[in-house]
Amino acid sequence: MRTRVVFYSRTGITRLLAEALAARTVAETAEITCDRYGPGLWGWLQAGRASWRRQRPAISYAPPGEAPDCLLVGSPVWSGVLAAPVRSYLAGLSELPPRVGLFLTAGGPPPQDQAAAEATALLGRAPDGLLVMHAEDVQAGRHMDEIEDFLRDLTMHVSRPDAPG
Ligand SMILES: Cc1cc2nc3c(=O)[nH]c(=O)nc-3n(C[C@H](O)[C@H](O)[C@H](O)COP(=O)(O)O)c2cc1C
Repeated sequence: MRTRVVFYSRTGITRLLAEALAARTVAETAEITCDRYGPGLWGWLQAGRASWRRQRPAISYAPPGEAPDCLLVGSPVWSGVLAAPVRSYLAGLSELPPRVGLFLTAGGPPPQDQAAAEATALLGRAPDGLLVMHAEDVQAGRHMDEIEDFLRDLTMHVSRPDAPG
């Protein structure tokens, strides 16, 4: 199964989780970048404002090639919802592979329902697997069991006939 891990990370936590997932699934990775939301206070304020306004900023994203069978999309949680660059990415997807997983990192505890619901609305269907991790646990490497559960959920799901595209 060809798996692609697509993620945005402002401060590196979601990148850590993306790298762990990619290593576990032998996936290709593609990072979403955005020239806003730098690492300082100004970037944090911009990120917060983008969330409140549900903005969809311009992003850069270079898909590595052939369409995958499984797409894993990673986002930090910003003000309870998706990070704005991930909103842009999901809004721009024209077709989905048979399996789609969503992984979120947050400064607070799971479940982060609002962010997952936003992703579901943008995808047009619920993801086949959902992984929500506290940033501290990702930093400490306490994510391996959760990754296995996430991947098990994904492999148990089959293609849905109502997937867009
Ligand atoms: C603008 C902004 C808003 C945030 N809002 C939330 C929030 O509502 N709930 C939460 O649990 N964490 C929140 N966080 C914390 C991030 O979700 C968390 O630190 C995440 O792991 C960062 O991922 P990254 O390092 O990949 O950018 C927020 C962070 C930023 C920058």
